[in-house]
Amino acid sequence: MEETESARSVPSGAGMPPRRRARSARNKTIDLSIEDGQQYLARCLTLSGSAALPDVIDRTISGDCLEVMPLLPRGSVDLLICDPPYNQSRSFAGKRFSSKSHSGYAEYTEKWLCAALPLLKRTGSVYVCCDWKSGIDIVPVLERHLTIRNRITWQREKGRGAMRNWKSGMEDIWFATLSDSYTFNVDAVKVRRRVLAPYRENGQPKDWEETEEGRFRNTFPSNFWSDISVPYWSMPENTAHPTQKPEKLLAKLILASSNPGDLVLDPFLGSGSTSVTAKKLGRHFIGIEESAQYCVWAEKRLEMAESDRSIQGYRDGVFWDRNTSHEQLTAGKNAGSGEPPEA
Ligand SMILES: C[S@@+](CC[C@H](N)C(=O)[O-])C[C@H]1O[C@@H](n2cnc3c(N)ncnc32)[C@H](O)[C@@H]1O
Repeated sequence: MEETESARSVPSGAGMPPRRRARSARNKTIDLSIEDGQQYLARCLTLSGSAALPDVIDRTISGDCLEVMPLLPRGSVDLLICDPPYNQSRSFAGKRFSSKSHSGYAEYTEKWLCAALPLLKRTGSVYVCCDWKSGIDIVPVLERHLTIRNRITWQREKGRGAMRNWKSGMEDIWFATLSDSYTFNVDAVKVRRRVLAPYRENGQPKDWEETEEGRFRNTFPSNFWSDISVPYWSMPENTAHPTQKPEKLLAKLILASSNPGDLVLDPFLGSGSTSVTAKKLGRHFIGIEESAQYCVWAEKRLEMAESDRSIQGYRDGVFWDRNTSHEQLTAGKNAGSGEPPEA
């Protein structure tokens, strides 16, 4: 893309000092410093005025989403995926988000949602990630502007133990739409499960298949997701971002609620998970992130996605349970690569 008045590459500049620590050769965590990642930062845009779609499509925009979203073309987005800071005090690359009162967090949610919704097509869908506490304030805001369709609960396993409370081992992802006319590709998000009680009719498997690895059925996806791990150090998608979402989780949202060639927007891009997964699945994307450090990691991952479009846990058009890499590989050999389509 040629640079326009309002859309410019991020200038190289101040950064955090490079990290130097010994680590295992199998540790794939992306933690490139801003200093070492100047070429990635240079691929990001900053906006100073209204931008046309060709200027911003398939790009990472460095900046505050509250300032950037009013500059983006209205009615152009098919799917909005939002993973805002939860209502807890936390630092993102040195910038602190302070926990707020219920009314304060509701006000914050109203602000970014009202900046995002004009960008959505009438047929668009919205997913908002949150923990139980943030959800208390997010849901009434969603209800005012959208039709809420479901609450997905992701059992993420990892979580900090507590002496005087239950460990938080789950998160919610609220699914909402602007109208009754929306995309939902249920066949694209089936879950492959081992059949425990194989039923036969006339001697033939009923709704399941017999493979060398065992008996499997592709089941309808429910709103309880127990098959997705938090990214960890030996996974190529892992970065040093403190709250990175797994590509497998984003793949479910993107495959269900968009079609190839559609546009996915993430205003709180973090380490780039939404844009990277959208790219791997043949969708267009726009990501906004205020931390230059995370923009570097997002762009590094977007580059990696050019040569590796695999998504851990998604193969041959189905989602697999945790710890089934052996079965996935065998099925892959028998059924072809199962790679997602080109953009
Ligand atoms: C919960 S994290 C998102 C993580 C992301 N889903 C991923 O997989 O890496 C929220 C992100 O929003 C960014 N952020 C917070 N406020 C922002 C704002 N006003 N504009 C743009 N980005 C913001 C933070 O820097 C942080 O990276």
